[in-house]
Amino acid sequence: MSPFINEAAWIASAKSKPLQIGPAPTPIPQENEIVIKVAYAAVNPVDWKLQEEAIFELKYPFILGTDVAGTIVQLGSGVTRFKLGQRVIGHCDGFVSGKASNSAFQLYTTCREILVAAVPDSLPLANAVVLPISISTASSALFVQLKAPLPTLNPQLTGKKILVWGGSSSVGTSAIQLARAAGLEVITTASSANHAQVKELGATEVFDHKDPDTVDRISNLLRPGDLVIDCISGEDTQVKCGEILSRIGGGKLPVLNSPNGSVFENVERVFVNGLAPGFTNPEVGDAVWRQYIPSAFAKGIFQAKPDPVIINGGLGKVQEGIDLLKRGVSAKKVVVEIAPE
Ligand SMILES: NC(=O)c1ccc[n+]([C@@H]2O[C@H](COP(=O)([O-])OP(=O)(O)OC[C@H]3O[C@@H](n4cnc5c(N)ncnc54)[C@H](OP(=O)(O)O)[C@@H]3O)[C@@H](O)[C@H]2O)c1
Repeated sequence: MSPFINEAAWIASAKSKPLQIGPAPTPIPQENEIVIKVAYAAVNPVDWKLQEEAIFELKYPFILGTDVAGTIVQLGSGVTRFKLGQRVIGHCDGFVSGKASNSAFQLYTTCREILVAAVPDSLPLANAVVLPISISTASSALFVQLKAPLPTLNPQLTGKKILVWGGSSSVGTSAIQLARAAGLEVITTASSANHAQVKELGATEVFDHKDPDTVDRISNLLRPGDLVIDCISGEDTQVKCGEILSRIGGGKLPVLNSPNGSVFENVERVFVNGLAPGFTNPEVGDAVWRQYIPSAFAKGIFQAKPDPVIINGGLGKVQEGIDLLKRGVSAKKVVVEIAPE
């Protein structure tokens, strides 16, 4: 019998608000799962979209949240890569597995081992927690959809460029870094206030997405065979990215939300499933979560960006965090301190 007394921020029914704090089941890990005592949970757009728009069917009451950082308190019988007490980040898959025990906004959560990475002592958990969904989603776009070379610490240059539209966003930040680790040269967009940050992550050229000349200027830099991913995936950005890709000869355009906006006949928009590395494409999960990220963390070459806006105060503050993110952020990630580390 597990000694962990669990509590969660529950969504009581479809579209209900605010989240309700109450007892939650004691976590019991499956063979390939890890129980994490959650120190910090990050908030993502999917959280407000699930709460306010019920974009996926859930079995209520349910627990939201995908990103955690904390310490390992229990290991499934098949997990050999980790040890108790280790500091980790994890990507929770609750809204896909349908199990509330796999969600982030609770004191103890279970994560699939393939979506967990050790965090070195030099990296604060409040920073590391910004990464899980963005690592998985950027990996799914780059390595599942675009078949870019898997990331390594010493990548061979491919001679190709990639446009990462929305480089200051959470997903864009990981996409820039992983694309570089795949040997691609990165061109990106961001507001001018964020240009220095995206260059520090490894982009060689950055354009302001609000500048009306940006589509022309980026199209002139790219060549047939170069790649494009839309890390914002609103209707307008899908059109701009589609137009750029179309002008250089077309190809696959990974988008993070359902394809919408004008269609270009030589551009195939493909929906990116951020959980693919943990489910349908374990070869990508293995290369990224088990191999690349832990070694890149250890060498200090994968940055935990964007910086967190930390809300202290535990589970009762998760709703405040969701509402804050919905109002919009610029190169920041909303993080809630769930329990002291
Ligand atoms: N399919 C999946 O599995 C999956 C997974 C994760 C996220 N998503 C979706 O992906 C989208 C991005 O999520 P996120 O968490 O990365 O977003 P985020 O960090 O909250 O996005 C904020 C950033 O978006 C940038 N931005 C806003 N409008 C822009 C535009 N028109 N062009 C370029 N950049 C723009 C802003 O850049 P500046 O401040 O520099 O202007 C800001 O830094 C959301 O719709 C989310 O639901 C899908």
